[in-house]
Amino acid sequence: MKILTTVQEVREKVKEWQGAGLRVGLVPTMGYLHEGHASLINKACSQNDRVIVSDFVNPIQFGPGEDLDAYPRDIEHDRKIAQDAGADCIFHPNADEMYGPNFSSFVDMTGLTEELCGKRRPVHFRGVCTVVSKLFNIVTPDMAYFGEKDAQQLAVIRHMVQDLNFAVKIIGCPIIREADGLAKSSRNAYLTLEERRAATILHAALSGAEDAMRGGECQVAVITGMIRNTIESQPLARVDYIEIVDSKSVQSVSDITADVLIAIAVYIGKIRLIDNFTWKVQAGGI
Ligand code: PAF
Repeated sequence: MKILTTVQEVREKVKEWQGAGLRVGLVPTMGYLHEGHASLINKACSQNDRVIVSDFVNPIQFGPGEDLDAYPRDIEHDRKIAQDAGADCIFHPNADEMYGPNFSSFVDMTGLTEELCGKRRPVHFRGVCTVVSKLFNIVTPDMAYFGEKDAQQLAVIRHMVQDLNFAVKIIGCPIIREADGLAKSSRNAYLTLEERRAATILHAALSGAEDAMRGGECQVAVITGMIRNTIESQPLARVDYIEIVDSKSVQSVSDITADVLIAIAVYIGKIRLIDNFTWKVQAGGI
């Protein structure tokens, strides 16, 4: 499978496809692909004639002191996973190709981006919105696929597409988990064996909360307290945030009367992991 490295190559390829009336799907990633990404690619292949996976560790979505340099990279591993999942090509530019020497235009968003992860990672969503806008302009996909593990990112991108009139349909895809419940993430590769075992506490805490909600618990303070107690029972874990927010606006709620996102960020040792689930009031659960 071909790896395209320049914007021009991608434009030519997509022009050829779209000229032939083919529908094009885009799966934006930062590489180090796993089954979570493969599920996005599978979904994209089921809904499009051609699928491009972008594979680019986007420097501008990392803040000072974050893991930009350490972020795992392995393009040959990615090529295999993308090909096995059915993708047609990978767009793997270098940073100079994406951000020329005089780069100075950014896509920024207020509100949604200031909650949850945005409180801790002030430049993150500006970087995500900018690179995703560039990818939409380069690839001009009909549909683009994002994982629900990054629930806030998905909400931000949906909002940006609406605000800026991008002609792309955004598809959210469910979280893919390891057998023990840990949400798949490229950052899991950082965990030591002991930390990997400890990391199951995120899913355990969320499952406990979900059980309580199924049992009728609807007080935000009680549910967040339960999640905190479970996480704090694991010595290697440290809570960054536990938040219950309206699933659309991502604003905090005090009682659960509409659909909510229960989102957590937890340090396992030095590694920050996130997880979440959505509680749909109408359906009485997920
Ligand atoms: O979710 C990710 O991997 C990244 O934030 C994305 C959407 C590819 C933008 O760099």
